[in-house]
Amino acid sequence: MPRGGFVKALILSGGSGTRLRPLTYSQQKQLIPIANKPVLFYAIEDVIEAGAKDIGIIVGPNKEQVAETVMSEDWNANIEFLYQGDPRGLAQTILVAEDFLDDDFVMYLGDNILKGGIVEHAERFHSLNPDSLVMLTQVADPQRFGVADIDDSGKIKRLVEKPNVPPSNYALVGIYFFKQVIIDACHQIKPSWRNELEITDAIQWLIENGYRVEASIVSSWWKDTGKPEDILEANRLILDDIMPKNMGTTDNSRIIGRAVIDLGTSISNSIVKGPCCIGKDCKVIDSYIGPYTSIGKGCQIKETEIEDSIIMDGSNIMNAGRIVESLVGRNVRIRESDGKPKGHRLIIGDNSEIML
Ligand code: TTP
Repeated sequence: MPRGGFVKALILSGGSGTRLRPLTYSQQKQLIPIANKPVLFYAIEDVIEAGAKDIGIIVGPNKEQVAETVMSEDWNANIEFLYQGDPRGLAQTILVAEDFLDDDFVMYLGDNILKGGIVEHAERFHSLNPDSLVMLTQVADPQRFGVADIDDSGKIKRLVEKPNVPPSNYALVGIYFFKQVIIDACHQIKPSWRNELEITDAIQWLIENGYRVEASIVSSWWKDTGKPEDILEANRLILDDIMPKNMGTTDNSRIIGRAVIDLGTSISNSIVKGPCCIGKDCKVIDSYIGPYTSIGKGCQIKETEIEDSIIMDGSNIMNAGRIVESLVGRNVRIRESDGKPKGHRLIIGDNSEIML
């Protein structure tokens, strides 16, 4: 038996990602890079580590983009893509995947990221053998989450979505273990006020119908990357553990701390201060790349300081002063404006955010 004992995994890479516009107009949110790797890849790695051999990935309207990105890597598992169409809730994805889910399975939201993986939680699911095991973490603001009411033995009594008066400060992490009875539960429940089939309602159905739902507590960090500030925070957390590796070339430059510099990248007359990572085929000239920065492949950075930010593939930033706590999409050009009239010249997509 593999380490976590799992064969099947369902990873969710659909949804609309409205809170991450404008990035999600052109890019499925689970493909946004954290430390130069799509968020979704962390979920795939975690389920494979827990033993998954068959992985179903739920995809929405951007299905080709997700499939192409996932299949550009070699994974030690069979991967199939299950088309959801319009996002109608987490429990609906189980109905979409009904034929695929012919065994116990783990369901993992593809925009969640968890330090330390899921092996110990998968082992707990197997040893306790409940109908479902949900992962919980303590949060300061339970009103924002699905919250669990737990009894003294750790069994779940009740789940409540975004409660005004939370029964505990244990929030649901977006990773769940199920026996197949959850499929019946998803058939039984009705859409919520937001017209979605909610996974919390399906788990609540299990509890009310005498099935056993256990909890497993996450002790290290967990992040849901649904909002821009969460993505920057996940990037910091991942970079905190990065191992330095310089495969690029440097000329008259200083590399301080833990930096990953990929093949074909040149750093000249610059300072790079880790933890940070710079992807393939970038040119960094007369610049400062500071801690907690991830720069994608094929970027050019000239006479600019960047810190605590994510710059995605193919972007070109020149004489741009100092950039901090920023998320910059793919193929973006930022440069100092010259000539008259003086002022900021902006060509920005809908729902962008700029702080000058
Ligand atoms: P959410 O972040 O709750 O929803 P969303 O992706 O639509 O984002 P927003 O609220 O910003 O519009 O979804 C949690 C995860 O589940 C995420 O990885 C997307 C995925 N998902 C699906 O695959 N199908 C669905 O029907 C829903 C609602 C979410």
